[in-house]
Formats: sequence, C-alpha cells, structure tokens
Amino acid sequence: VSVSGPVRVAVLGVGKMGELHLQKLKELESVSVCGIYDTDAERLRALGEKYGVPIYSDPGELFFEADAASIATPTRTHYALCRQALEAGVHVLVEKPIADTVPEAEELVRIAARGNRILQVGLIERFRYRALAGDHHAGKHVRYIEAQRLTPSLGRDTKADVVTDLMIHDLDLVLSLMEQDPVHVSAIGVRVLTDLLDMANVRLEFANGAVVNLSVSRVSNDPVRKFRIFFDDAYASLDFRDNGIKTYTRETAGERSLRLSRRDQVPIDALKDQIADFVDCVRTGRAPIVTGTDGARALRYAKIIVDKIHERASYRGPCAGAEASAREH
Ligand SMILES: NC(=O)c1ccc[n+]([C@@H]2O[C@H](COP(=O)([O-])OP(=O)(O)OC[C@H]3O[C@@H](n4cnc5c(N)ncnc54)[C@H](O)[C@@H]3O)[C@@H](O)[C@H]2O)c1
Repeated sequence: VSVSGPVRVAVLGVGKMGELHLQKLKELESVSVCGIYDTDAERLRALGEKYGVPIYSDPGELFFEADAASIATPTRTHYALCRQALEAGVHVLVEKPIADTVPEAEELVRIAARGNRILQVGLIERFRYRALAGDHHAGKHVRYIEAQRLTPSLGRDTKADVVTDLMIHDLDLVLSLMEQDPVHVSAIGVRVLTDLLDMANVRLEFANGAVVNLSVSRVSNDPVRKFRIFFDDAYASLDFRDNGIKTYTRETAGERSLRLSRRDQVPIDALKDQIADFVDCVRTGRAPIVTGTDGARALRYAKIIVDKIHERASYRGPCAGAEASAREH
C-alpha cells in the first residue's frame, strides 16, 4: 500500500479540529494538501484562501485526487465519509470517536482491511503519553491507574455524552497500556448541564488484579487532565495539560516509600506526531499506532459504560435546575 513521492492528503471538515489538521499537514514536507471539503461553503472558501489550497464541493471528486484523507467532520458523518474514502482507495485518519455506533465502526475496520487501506483514529493522548513516558511501562506490571479529565463546559457538540466525547481518550490509552480487556466494568454518572451525561466515574478491573479509575466531567471551572500510573516499584504522574511528568521509583528493594526520580516538562506537538504517524503509515504501508480496531474498541467500551450508567438507579435524569440550563444550550 505504500506511496512514493509527496503524499496527497485531503482534509474533510475544516472546523476547529480540521483547521488544526490542515495546519499540521502543511508543515510536513512529505505532504501535499490536495484539497479541502466542508459543507459550510463560506468557511471552505475562506480557509482555501487562507492556506492556499484547492477547495472542493464534492467529496468524491476530492477523493479522486487523494492518496489519503484527514476526516474531521462531526461524528455523525464519520461513517459515510470514511466509507466513501476507503471504497475510493483512500487511506483514512478520522477524528475520534471513529463513528456513532459500534457496528458502523466495525464495518469501517472491515472495509479498510478488505481494501488494504490504513484506517487510523484520532485518539491523540496516545501520542502525548508516548512523548512523555516513552516506553516507561514496558515490561512493568501496571497495578493501578487513576485518570481525571475535567473541562469547563465546551458549549459544543452536546449531542455527545461526556464518556464518548472525552473519556474515550483515557479508555483507549488504558486499554492499550493494559493489553487486555477488563473482566469487570462499573460506572456511575449524571447529567447536569445538558440532556446527556456530563460527569462520570468508571472502574475497570483486570484479571491480573490491576484496577483503573477514570473520572470525567465537563462541569468544572478548572480544567484538569491528569493520568497517574502505578507499577510494582514505581509510579508516574502525567499532566496532559502542561505536558509535565514526574516519576517516582523505589530505589532499594523493600523500601516503603518512592523517591522522585524524574521531573520534566516535554515540548510536545501531539497532533503533529499523530498526523506524521499517519503519513508515515501511508508512505511505508506499516500499521498505525492507533488503529481502526483500537478506535472501535474504545467506542465499544464507551457504549458499555454509558449503558451501565443508564441501568443504574442513580441515573434519574437532570435535576430541576439542570433542566432549565439544558434548554438554554
Ligand atoms: N482529538 C481531539 O482531541 C478532538 C477535539 C475536538 C473535536 N474532536 C472531534 O473532531 C470532530 C470535529 O469536531 P470540531 O470540534 O472540529 O467541530 P466543528 O463543528 O468545529 O467542525 C466541523 C466542521 O465540519 C463541517 N461539516 C459538517 N458536516 C459536514 C459534512 N457532511 N461534510 C463535510 N464537512 C462537514 C462543518 O461545517 C464544520 O466546519 C468531531 O468528531 C470531534 O469529536 C476531536
């Protein structure tokens, strides 16, 4: 599947994320942006001019010119556009979540495999973790993970619950680090600002005894993105907001405390790393770091969690005050 010469990449959906994709693609020497497409004709024209790239009003015509596509449209459109791209022989990087439903996600994985096309999903925290921690966890036994992802109300895309929209990043990272499925999932959550889940807490338990505790909220004044991972003889505390890492290790066997062994702040451009990985996969034919299968797995767990929360008695709908504010959104 490899491509020689500059990789011709199309960008579909040039909203907030799509414009960032476009910027990073323009920075890569191995890429030529062959065109952009967006249903908002005014924005399409403006960005075409701003970045000096051809604009298209038909995705099929754009796919005809492209080796690969970056798809950053609203999630409800991912399946149809990814499918069209893959069937046109175009490699795909699609923003998270891969699709609206698990059957759609699995279908995309099948179509990509059948056509021998790359399907990568924009679960970007994998690249931040790699840049910060490298292979710190390699060969170590993960005992416990504690992650918090708290944001102020985004005011956007409230069509997505907070698990599928935000916790999916931590789910994907955890599942990739654990390299196994959990044996038990428990979850609680509430809606506060929107008519979908706005806050959730999830515990994943693994057959080897490891426990993962994830909290997510879009009702927070102070944004937090912390990821703490505990091993037998060490622990790493990562801050995905300021790209900081602290690692603590037990230097002598039997010692009852851990000492700070590394404190770092790493300059990271995770989006650029993600896009460079995609382009390299297109050039060489190797598998991406975050595959379509990974994207489908993260979505599957997000759906399991949302279903579990809905099943619980604690999910009784918005309280009176929240109902009013959900209507205002
Ligand atoms: N990886 C991350 O951290 C991250 C962060 C934010 C958003 N996202 C994801 O990126 C995607 C886009 O989010 P956003 O915040 O950029 O949204 P946005 O609303 O800013 O941009 C979406 C763009 O797609 C266009 N569009 C709508 N329907 C289209 C269609 N059928 N074909 C072509 N263009 C279409 C819109 O006109 C708009 O310009 C979502 O799937 C979201 O989950 C990922």
